[in-house]
Amino acid sequence: MRSLRVALLYNLKKNAPHTTGEPADAAAELDSEETAQALQEALEAGGHYVIPLEGDVNLYPTLQRLRGQIDIAFNICEGHQGDSRESQVPAILEMLGIPYTASKILAHALSLDKAMAKRVWMSNGLPTAAFQVFQRPDEPLSPLLTFPLFAKPLREGTAKGIDANAIIENEAQLRRRVSWLISAYRQPALVETYLPGREFTVGLLGNALAPGEAPLSEIYDENGFHLFPVLEIDTSPVAESERGIYTNRIKSEMPLAINYLCPAQIAPELERELKRLAVAAFLAIDALDVARVDFRLDAEGRPHILEINTLPGMNPQISDLCIMARAEGMPYTRLVNDILQLAARRYGLWDGTYA
Ligand SMILES: Nc1ncnc2c1ncn2[C@@H]1O[C@H](COP(=O)(O)OP(=O)(O)O)[C@@H](O)[C@H]1O
Ligand SMILES: [Mg+2]
Repeated sequence: MRSLRVALLYNLKKNAPHTTGEPADAAAELDSEETAQALQEALEAGGHYVIPLEGDVNLYPTLQRLRGQIDIAFNICEGHQGDSRESQVPAILEMLGIPYTASKILAHALSLDKAMAKRVWMSNGLPTAAFQVFQRPDEPLSPLLTFPLFAKPLREGTAKGIDANAIIENEAQLRRRVSWLISAYRQPALVETYLPGREFTVGLLGNALAPGEAPLSEIYDENGFHLFPVLEIDTSPVAESERGIYTNRIKSEMPLAINYLCPAQIAPELERELKRLAVAAFLAIDALDVARVDFRLDAEGRPHILEINTLPGMNPQISDLCIMARAEGMPYTRLVNDILQLAARRYGLWDGTYA
């Protein structure tokens, strides 16, 4: 692939603006310098010239100045504020006519708003738990929902607002939890059927192929997708305190305390079904290049889509997507450069050769 000038756009934890009274996990979704450094090195190893930039309020004038010197942006910006904050940098890039990796404005907005994504999947006949969005703590509970339930902030990631008390057994707990979520996270609360079964996450690379278009390389299937081995999140080592939930505490304080089983030991039919659903969930929201789809099984062992991550974590050591790639034997450099190539190809910037 020809050498590209790549603007690497990120929001680092250390640069996060802070507001008074914010929850302790406010900056949990943002990236570490280690991740930014690893991405830069991977892109450079792919033969590209990298311009690293913080995706903050100064990004627009900076890109306006540099746009003649940038071929494409590698975007991992989670955003700092606003309902559709993951869409803000893509919107700036589109205004300036700069190509960029991964999903576009609408898919990031849908992915961040878990209820909107669920509405799209339900209308496509895809399995996801029954739910209700609470704008206020005292709204009557829908008769379609029965305890136990599960509550989370409508538009967060990295299990923000999720601990063992997210499992709700009765009306009193429901009111207390919803009221806390709404006030602590300043957004509606999503309440859905509690799924007691095993938890899996499925990572994928690719895009639907245009008629006559060949897959990017031999690892992509005839539909244009590469599915990583299914990863099972086994939280049983901390079952007592975390109650089987992949909580914010596990993700941020003790990621090594649980088991990341990859490939998951599951029946071939379940594996096929999880992979089929992951691609269907991705296509339904018009995601691009890369995503990770989270699932849990119900009491009968049937998979339900929890959410899609259109900006999956890219920390080479601890991010789920990188664990999956490693389990398959795909080097981090290849993972990063495949995402770049998939995007470059969509914009006609790819010459069909590999670095
Ligand atoms: N309906 C549910 N039933 C049981 N556990 C759930 C449910 N929804 C979420 N969880 C648990 O909470 C974790 C985080 O939820 P998820 O929807 O993936 O949000 P996030 O964007 O924070 O990762 C999941 O990994 C899972 O352990
Ligand atoms: Mg998740």
